[in-house]
Amino acid sequence: MTLRTIDTLGDLEGKRVVVRVDFNVPLKDGEITDDGRIRAALPTIDLLLRKGATVIACSHLGRPDGEPNPKYSLAPVAQRLSELLGAPVTFVETPPADISSVEGDVVLLENLRFDPRETSKDAGERASFASELAALGDVMVSDGFGVVHRKQASVYELAEALPSAAGTLIASELEVLDRLTETPEKPYAVVLGGSKVSDKLGVIDHLLPRVDSLLIGGGMLFTFLAAQGHKVGASLLEADQLDRVREYIARAEELGVDLIVPTDVVVASKFAADAEHEVRPADDIEGGAFGAAGIGLDIGPETSARFAEVVAASRTVFWNGPMGVFEFDAFAAGTKAVAQALTEVDGLSVVGGGDSAAAVRALGFDDDRFGHISTGGGASLEFLEGKKLPGLEVLGWQGK
Ligand code: 3PG
Repeated sequence: MTLRTIDTLGDLEGKRVVVRVDFNVPLKDGEITDDGRIRAALPTIDLLLRKGATVIACSHLGRPDGEPNPKYSLAPVAQRLSELLGAPVTFVETPPADISSVEGDVVLLENLRFDPRETSKDAGERASFASELAALGDVMVSDGFGVVHRKQASVYELAEALPSAAGTLIASELEVLDRLTETPEKPYAVVLGGSKVSDKLGVIDHLLPRVDSLLIGGGMLFTFLAAQGHKVGASLLEADQLDRVREYIARAEELGVDLIVPTDVVVASKFAADAEHEVRPADDIEGGAFGAAGIGLDIGPETSARFAEVVAASRTVFWNGPMGVFEFDAFAAGTKAVAQALTEVDGLSVVGGGDSAAAVRALGFDDDRFGHISTGGGASLEFLEGKKLPGLEVLGWQGK
C-alpha cells in the first residue's frame, strides 16, 4: 500500500476535517522564536479551505505530562496561524469539547497533551481520546510529520477512527527523505552533530553503507575523539557508547567511507556565552590554558573549512544537529560554516530536524537557500534509521 493522499477522501465541500499538525514550536517568554512548523502546515490548510472544508487543527506543544499548563498553551500559535493565514482562527481551550457551535472556518484545539490519554501507553485509553477527537470531524488529515514516530492517540488511533489521509507536508517530506535512503546522487555526505551520540547511532548504522563521507561535529564529536584514544577535558562524553563508536569507526574503514572527525576544536573555560576560549588541536585538548577543565564548545576553524569543502563538493547532503553551541555567538562559527556550505551544494541539500532548522534560521539563513528543511527532528532521524513509523503506516505507507 502506498500513502493515502487527500484526494482519496473524496468531496470535502461542507465537511469537517480534523487535521493533526505539529505546532510544537520553540517559545521564549511566550513568544514563538521559530514559526517554521506553522508555515509548513499552511499548504494543507489552504488546500482544505479551497475545497470548502472546515479545518479543525490539533497539535501538541512540548511535554506537559498530561496536565493543563499555561506554559505549554497553543494560544500564541493560534494567533500566529491567524496572521499567516490572513483569516480568523477560533481557539478552543477545552478539547475535545463539543465544538458544533464554534464559528469559523479554522479552529485550533488547545494542546492535546493536556489530556493524559493522548500519550498513554494503554491503547484503550488512547482509543477513547481518539474517538472523542474523531467525533469532531467527518474525516482526518494527518500532516504533523514531526510526530509520526509517536504512537499517540491523535497520530495513530485517530487515523484509524476516521477515514484518513496524509497532508501535503508529509507527502513532500517523504519524497525527499526517501531519496536520501533509496537513490542518493553521489558523492553523498552526511553531517551529524548535536549533543548526544546515542541519538545518532541508528542513523550512522543505516546510512554508513550508503554514504561517501560522514562528518562528525557537535557535542557527540568528543565521544569519537575519546574512542580514538584522546583526552577530552570536561567536554561532553558518553562513556557507555565508546565501544559502539569504535565499531563504527572500524566499519567506516572497511566500507571505504571517509569518516571525518574534527582535527581542531574551540575549547572554553566554562559553559557560558562569555567564557574565555581558545582553539586547540583535537588530540591535545587538555594541553591548553584550561587543562582538564576545558570544555569543547565548537569545531575549530581548520575543521570548519574541511567540512565546508566536503559538503559543498557533494551532490547529496543530509545534515542533522548543530556543530557547536550556536546559541552563543562565540561558538556559532562551525554551525554557520556548515550551513553556508549547504547553501552551495549543487544537488540535494537537506537540513533535518527541529534544532538544526531552528539553528539555520536563527543564524539568518533563508529557508529557500536549502533544498529541503525537514520539520521532523526525531521523526526524520527514525525514518533514516529505516524504522517503521506508526503515524505513516496507519496512512498506508510501507516504504518503497
Ligand atoms: C518534535 O519536536 O520532535 C516533535 O514535535 C515530537 O515531539 P516529542 O519528542 O515531544 O514527541
